[in-house]
Amino acid sequence: MSEVQSRECKVLVVDDEKSICDLLCQYLRKQGYNVFRAASGEEAVRIVEVNGIDLVLSDIKMPGMTGVDLLKWIKEYDRFLPVIITTGFPTLDTAIEALKLGAFDYLTKPFHLEEIGEKVRRALINRQLEEENILFSKLVSLHEVTKVLSSTHIVPDLNKRLLDFSVKLARADGGALMFFDSFSRLYTSETFPADHDPAFWKQEFYTACSQWAAGHEEPLALESGSELSPPGLPKLPEHIQSYIVFPLRTPKRTLGVLNLIRVEGSVSFSNIDLEIINVLASQASISIENARLYHSIRDNYLKTVRGFALAVEAKDQYTHGHSEKVMEFTVVLAEKLGLSAQEIDQIKYAGLLHDIGKIGVSENILNKPGRLTDDEFAEIKKHPDLGARIISDVPFLKSLVPLIRHHHEFFDGSGYPDRIAHDEIPYGARILCVADSFEAMTSNRPYRKAMPRDMASEILTKEKGRQFDPHVVDAFLELLQSGTAGV
Ligand SMILES: [Fe+2]
Repeated sequence: MSEVQSRECKVLVVDDEKSICDLLCQYLRKQGYNVFRAASGEEAVRIVEVNGIDLVLSDIKMPGMTGVDLLKWIKEYDRFLPVIITTGFPTLDTAIEALKLGAFDYLTKPFHLEEIGEKVRRALINRQLEEENILFSKLVSLHEVTKVLSSTHIVPDLNKRLLDFSVKLARADGGALMFFDSFSRLYTSETFPADHDPAFWKQEFYTACSQWAAGHEEPLALESGSELSPPGLPKLPEHIQSYIVFPLRTPKRTLGVLNLIRVEGSVSFSNIDLEIINVLASQASISIENARLYHSIRDNYLKTVRGFALAVEAKDQYTHGHSEKVMEFTVVLAEKLGLSAQEIDQIKYAGLLHDIGKIGVSENILNKPGRLTDDEFAEIKKHPDLGARIISDVPFLKSLVPLIRHHHEFFDGSGYPDRIAHDEIPYGARILCVADSFEAMTSNRPYRKAMPRDMASEILTKEKGRQFDPHVVDAFLELLQSGTAGV
């Protein structure tokens, strides 16, 4: 009991008979409740809408809006708000009808005050338990959601998921995710529903409230009929019942805002909705910042890798653009072979860097127009090992070492440097080998002109099982025949 009372529960007594209303109010006040009173159903509706009532005790027979009408309205408005019906006509039918419509309990006149106290107490405890259940289930969902968000690195996916989750958790009718551009102007990144016109969120009301929440670094909640909006903000649009906007903040800056609405005819967002979405918005802001950072690091990573590849190609006038083309081939081929996104990323960078070891091979050998001597060829053959050693010292390139080292191994074990065969050769290196060889055959070289694609394809077919993994060659030839982009 003390737990319920400590929340200063607001109980509304509705009865058109003043003496009964007086009696109930007086008794409940003595019990420590914060008591409101209404002499009609219509008056009760206004009080419920404005005051956040925790329990309604209503007479069933009143002129105008009856207790049953009020009960139906309350169950539409907030299905968790308990209603105890009081009736002077103790028929079972009336009680059953009220219970069917969602009344928590009923009391018959004349009242036994102790019975009233007990039923009110039970109803309030029940409401509290229901609220805690909702909070618990929302917290479980929130935990799942934040786990998903923190594992997503693709920014558009992350934004869409954040908005979808928020709408679902808060049971909103619509929403929008807005971010600041480099000129500190808000733009709409995502809307819910996805095909909702972004111009809707450009209206003065949403822009002003979004700017307010971002500027004050705190959420803002507005609801129809309430006068509690901060000064200077436009009025809540007529068709909106309830509106909340949360700033998306990191310790360093505000990234943007999350807007949610419930339209006219719905219940306003509850304090639980506000608390849950506030936690979600804080967690999501960090995930969004991390994803942006991750992409920025990846961009720099790619630029560094490209720089390495260009450094090699600068020594060898005939191989200009070779690494980029090998990279394109390997990516398309790896996708066709069903490699994971992470493996594709790895093979992409390996494609760019596969010949990095040529940086240690003499330019005279690399650019020699005629046939290479055995010694010169032995020198060239050092480049996979040299390349692997160069990148093994770079932490973020380390995982590419096996691909670089083995890109000249032959499927039958007759390649170099380690003469390994079949599955001993990393799959990525087998893919790289096909892409590299095809690109080399179809490009000009110091000692020969570029070979037509048909002829290069024939060589790939002929070398299936000897130099190349047959499965990889088949996939590559299929890509060539279908004219897939990049190949
Ligand atoms: Fe190579």
